[in-house]
Amino acid sequence: MSLIERIKAKAALNPKRIVLPEGDEERTIRAAAIIQKEGLAVPVLLGNAAVILKKAEELGADIEGIELIDPESSPQAETYTEALYELRRAKGLSREEAAKLVKDPMYFGIMMVKLSHADGLVSGAAHTTGDMLRPALQIIKTKPGMKVVSSSFLMDCPNKELGENGLLVYADCVVMPCPTAEELAHIAVSAAETARTLCDIKEPRVAMLSFSTKGSAKHELVTKVQEATAMAHELAPELLLDGEMQLDAALIPEIGQSKAKGSPVAGRANVLIFPDLQAGNIGYKITQRIGGAECFAVLQGLAKPCNDLSRGCSVEDIVSTVAMTCVQAQN
Ligand code: ACO
Repeated sequence: MSLIERIKAKAALNPKRIVLPEGDEERTIRAAAIIQKEGLAVPVLLGNAAVILKKAEELGADIEGIELIDPESSPQAETYTEALYELRRAKGLSREEAAKLVKDPMYFGIMMVKLSHADGLVSGAAHTTGDMLRPALQIIKTKPGMKVVSSSFLMDCPNKELGENGLLVYADCVVMPCPTAEELAHIAVSAAETARTLCDIKEPRVAMLSFSTKGSAKHELVTKVQEATAMAHELAPELLLDGEMQLDAALIPEIGQSKAKGSPVAGRANVLIFPDLQAGNIGYKITQRIGGAECFAVLQGLAKPCNDLSRGCSVEDIVSTVAMTCVQAQN
């Protein structure tokens, strides 16, 4: 079974209620029909019911039985307006602005998750990453003890000698352009949790990546990764985590042995922490496009699961992301 097949099987064991704010978007409608048919989650589509039903009919997508909620006319709008106003009034949000925002399906969906009227949310087929992330960051906020929201990419590589039988978790490739050492430490701890939850990796082995291995180069960027490594040890003393190290030292046993002798991680890492977003984003795309890996993105560190799609996503990408969100919600 591939990684995503295992995740779908896990999702179907306990389907959670996942809200899709882009409910009138065609790929989303098709995906909702598949999700319902395969029992991967209980999808809820936001938008005008007449529009959604008409599109579903044109597409030949069977969405009978799927709950449709129109933020424009929902009786919950008032509850969400009050709750949003209370949450953001200190930030200068007025009641009128809150009322306007909850008519936006993205905010309405986030409020459903916030008030536990849904277990998770998937959006981004028609929104930029920033527009999807901002309400989640402002309203759902981080889990207790977690300083930042970040992302992991689950990389299913054709070379099964790498990582955990070909599986590698990369972080952060989506959210934090320039993390501080402390933020990098939190990203590392979150990514290890994602490896456990979604990849069933029992023993995450986390490599803090750099262009230097164990002091081979001296530079302020290297120092930052060294500091992040020390902070991550303090945050999660039981976690197998080491750094700083180069990518080859992290992945290839002989190189790990020669460059970082005695490291519990070098040469056998299954979680890779990139020093910033440029490295992480470029790194996952190289692995995908040149290395032929299948990849799946999730957000981590949020108090409740919300996940972003790429605007170029396929119907299958939406189905997979909903299944991953469902598994995150089960945990
Ligand atoms: N974790 C937790 N909270 C955060 C984080 C974070 N990483 N980032 C921002 N916040 C909070 C802030 O504390 C603030 O909360 P408050 O309003 O309650 O005080 C709120 O979110 C908004 O913060 P801003 O700094 O105003 O956020 P901004 O909108 O400027 O940026 C964003 C946040 C959108 C995540 C930004 O960092 C970003 O654009 N990141 C890159 C996204 C991207 O383009 N990724 C690459 C493409 S995706 C791909 O290739 C798959």
